[in-house]
Amino acid sequence: MSRGWRTWLLPTLAIIVVLVIGGGAWLYISQDVSAQIGGIGGPFTLIDGSGQTVTDRTFRGRFMLVYFGYTFCPDVCPTTLTTVAAALDRLGPQADQVQPLFITVDPARDTPKVMHEYTAAFSPRILGLTGSEQQIGAVARGYRVYFASHAAAGTSDYTVDHSSILYLMGPDGRFVAPLRTDQSAGALAAEIRKDMTER
Ligand code: NI
Repeated sequence: MSRGWRTWLLPTLAIIVVLVIGGGAWLYISQDVSAQIGGIGGPFTLIDGSGQTVTDRTFRGRFMLVYFGYTFCPDVCPTTLTTVAAALDRLGPQADQVQPLFITVDPARDTPKVMHEYTAAFSPRILGLTGSEQQIGAVARGYRVYFASHAAAGTSDYTVDHSSILYLMGPDGRFVAPLRTDQSAGALAAEIRKDMTER
């Protein structure tokens, strides 16, 4: 009888371990699933060109055209912002209902001032946003944006690989559509107009 506890101790521990691991896995999977159901985007807190804090709620009532990149980007970002600026021109008065946001994935170099000067060179309509590493990490996760820094050989410089998708978000802040960046300004404007009208 004195050894009785040993006979059920191991099975009990085994059951506890299975429950903990299984519960953890379930929690992890269910969070991932709910994130997918919740969709792309979500709340964010960032800093604009004048150092003011802005959140996703700042832009409620207007569409957001969200793009992630960085000002040192050699090609994709400047090309995309040029296309966005031209597409906005083509939208005419409808462009007033769209707030383009350029969110940096390189907050170490892209200060509010740097972001403001950079976006202003493309269009005064485009709002450059930066933030702390944590704030940028959080918004990038919400939008499923991939980014990774790479040191350039022989210098202290680095480049940042990043996914290149435009996200059109509705006036309620919810994801509307992904837009390709490698299309003409006319095609982009037409797609945005169509998505806005169907909304
Ligand atoms: Ni880029």
